[in-house]
Amino acid sequence: MLFLSVLLATAAGRVVGLPRPESYRRELKADIGDSEIQWSTDCAYLGYKIDSDLSYSCANFSVPLDYTDPSSNETLTLTLTKINATIQPAKGSVLFNPGGPGGRGAPFILGHSAEFLTILGGQFNLIGFDPRATGKTLRFDCLEGLSDLERVKDQPPPMVLGNSSDVALGHNFASAQSESNDCLQRAGDTVQLVGTAFVARDMARIVDTLEEDGMLRYWGLSYGTVLGATFSAMFPEKVDKVLLDGNANVQQYYAGWETQMYVDLDGTVQGFFDGCVASPDICPLAGDGETAEDVYNTVEALFTQLKYNPIAVTILNETTIVTYNDVKFFMFGNLYEPASWPTIATLLSYLVDDNPGLYVETMIQLTGNATAGNFTDGFAAIKCGDSAYRADSLADLIPFEEEIVPTSTWGGLDFGLNNMIICSSWLMNAKEVYSGDWNVETKNPLMLIGNTWDPVTPLVAAQANSALFPGSVVLQHNGYGHCSLAQPSLCTAEAIQAYFVNGTLPASGTVCQPDVPLFSNATWEDALDSISLDGTVPVKAKRDVPYGPSSEDLLEALIELSRDVPGKPVTLRSGRI
Ligand SMILES: *[C@@H]1O[C@H](CO)[C@@H](O)[C@H](O)[C@H]1NC(C)=O
Ligand SMILES: *[C@@H]1O[C@H](CO)[C@@H](O)[C@H](O)[C@H]1NC(C)=O
Ligand SMILES: *[C@@H]1O[C@H](CO)[C@@H](O)[C@H](O)[C@H]1NC(C)=O
Ligand SMILES: *[C@@H]1O[C@H](CO)[C@@H](O)[C@H](O)[C@H]1NC(C)=O
Ligand SMILES: *[C@@H]1O[C@H](CO)[C@@H](O)[C@H](O)[C@H]1NC(C)=O
Ligand SMILES: *[C@@H]1O[C@H](CO)[C@@H](O)[C@H](O)[C@H]1NC(C)=O
Ligand SMILES: *[C@@H]1O[C@H](CO)[C@@H](O)[C@H](O)[C@H]1NC(C)=O
Ligand SMILES: *[C@@H]1O[C@H](CO)[C@@H](O)[C@H](O)[C@H]1NC(C)=O
Ligand SMILES: *[C@@H]1O[C@H](CO)[C@@H](O)[C@H](O)[C@H]1NC(C)=O
Repeated sequence: MLFLSVLLATAAGRVVGLPRPESYRRELKADIGDSEIQWSTDCAYLGYKIDSDLSYSCANFSVPLDYTDPSSNETLTLTLTKINATIQPAKGSVLFNPGGPGGRGAPFILGHSAEFLTILGGQFNLIGFDPRATGKTLRFDCLEGLSDLERVKDQPPPMVLGNSSDVALGHNFASAQSESNDCLQRAGDTVQLVGTAFVARDMARIVDTLEEDGMLRYWGLSYGTVLGATFSAMFPEKVDKVLLDGNANVQQYYAGWETQMYVDLDGTVQGFFDGCVASPDICPLAGDGETAEDVYNTVEALFTQLKYNPIAVTILNETTIVTYNDVKFFMFGNLYEPASWPTIATLLSYLVDDNPGLYVETMIQLTGNATAGNFTDGFAAIKCGDSAYRADSLADLIPFEEEIVPTSTWGGLDFGLNNMIICSSWLMNAKEVYSGDWNVETKNPLMLIGNTWDPVTPLVAAQANSALFPGSVVLQHNGYGHCSLAQPSLCTAEAIQAYFVNGTLPASGTVCQPDVPLFSNATWEDALDSISLDGTVPVKAKRDVPYGPSSEDLLEALIELSRDVPGKPVTLRSGRI
């Protein structure tokens, strides 16, 4: 979940939003859309490959296409998925958003069902939905209708890391202008309909139609925190439980001036190198007696070498060029999940050891199987349509550059400006942007989680968001990676469960420790594999049996995992947010 503010809301006439509170609370267009949800287990048409025998149901759910146009009765179909609580009757349903923006919620809950069911004590149904601009829902493509050949010709030159050359930023600015222009030409009408405020209204429709209490239970990760905060501000009386996990600063997001995003990136990178030298058996980058600083310097030297001397590798007549841009981007993306850190180390070691062929072969294997993100246009459409700041030229971004670059030595220039650049030349706006105030009394308090070291959603952003919602509490998950699931913690899991099941918030100032060390490839899924219901049968084989987690079992599993720090890194984990 990637994304990205000061309040420089200069773009003229962009806010179509209705003022809070009264009009947001009013149900617009009550008579359009579905008044019930017809769940079916006949879901093959979705084309999901599920690697478990868990059964799930799905539904088409229709909502108004355009909440701001009173004269239109057009509707839009959302794809919903649902996994029943293992303990019936359920205490209600929890909706999820995996971030991005542009991530798909419908497959997301299926991929993480065991974790979510377990952490929620088996007591809640899980509901995923593909937000607008994702999946089959207003999915669009800014090169729509072009032949493959035209596509190759028209594709804007991809953006590159900001410090990959001294002309990178200008290149990126022009690339973003090109993409924005393509999107305006071919998808402009659609782009206005996919903003976060509309998605919040869609969620209100879903909870109104669930035949529960009309209240929202929700777990939002990464950009999902922006969606959750927006819903909570628009519909404060519908907040039952809203968990914001891995926070983007919501006010900075809407301003389009996101200076907080990377403030913990250097600390995360430091953790990578500290973890590496602490586990030299599984971190091939660590030479005998080397310190974290030594290894850091080795990798930095590799990056500098690659920047000026990219390597051409030919395998089976296909030539791949190993570049600074690609290698550093790969490392960045995998910092999101400590379980992937051994993989980063192994691949970087191939390059350090002058074996780029092995690097390329392994990379092909890994990315061949990874579920492609594939949400570039959706990402920009949602995020940029929501964001206020616009620039006329790269020069306008110098004040932003001056703020963001010093926030991270490792990535401030490489990663800091790109999201900003994409949106600052965007030519369209969402039809509705939440423009009410941000001091929101919700019916029930929100819970927020911030990791101590998250590469893109820092703890300070969780604290900033919490300050907008009186009564909310931030739990500090003292781990690494993106969002709290990245490095499993029983303490965090129990706090989440207590919040959803009992409405109990953690005491303010609570810090939870992770139960899996760095450079373990262990994840929640592995923890669940080793939990037994009756001491013999692994949970995965008995999905139909209620398995509210026994804390002892989970703890044991986690302890066992941490004892058994695995040896050989292999897989790139899919389902990354
Ligand atoms: C989920 O539970 C409902 C009853 O609460 C039941 O009707 C439905 O068949 C269940 N769905 C699946 C996929 O088991
Ligand atoms: C949803 O709509 C699609 C396309 O119209 C259809 O093929 C599918 O069966 C529907 N699914 C459900 C669960 O109604
Ligand atoms: C939608 O509105 C049009 C014109 O206002 C009307 O002709 C049509 O019957 C309406 N459709 C539905 C499904 O209500
Ligand atoms: C950009 O790259 C150059 C050369 O690799 C390096 O010396 C410089 O420190 C980098 N600047 C930033 C802000 O990262
Ligand atoms: C590589 O190219 C050569 C010459 O065109 C061809 O004979 C050979 O079959 C190709 N090898 C593979 C693995 O495609
Ligand atoms: C990728 O998938 C193929 C086929 O399912 C499998 O044989 C291969 O081992 C997988 N590669 C990795 C790196 O998981
Ligand atoms: C993105 O997904 C669509 C639909 O699943 C697919 O047709 C397209 O090839 C994908 N694009 C990339 C770059 O993977
Ligand atoms: C919820 O509260 C009940 C009663 O105080 C307690 O027994 C239970 O352990 C709590 N559950 C969670 C998940 O905190
Ligand atoms: C983690 O490492 C262990 C030991 O090498 C390996 O057996 C296991 O498959 C790995 N797990 C994942 C999810 O990559």
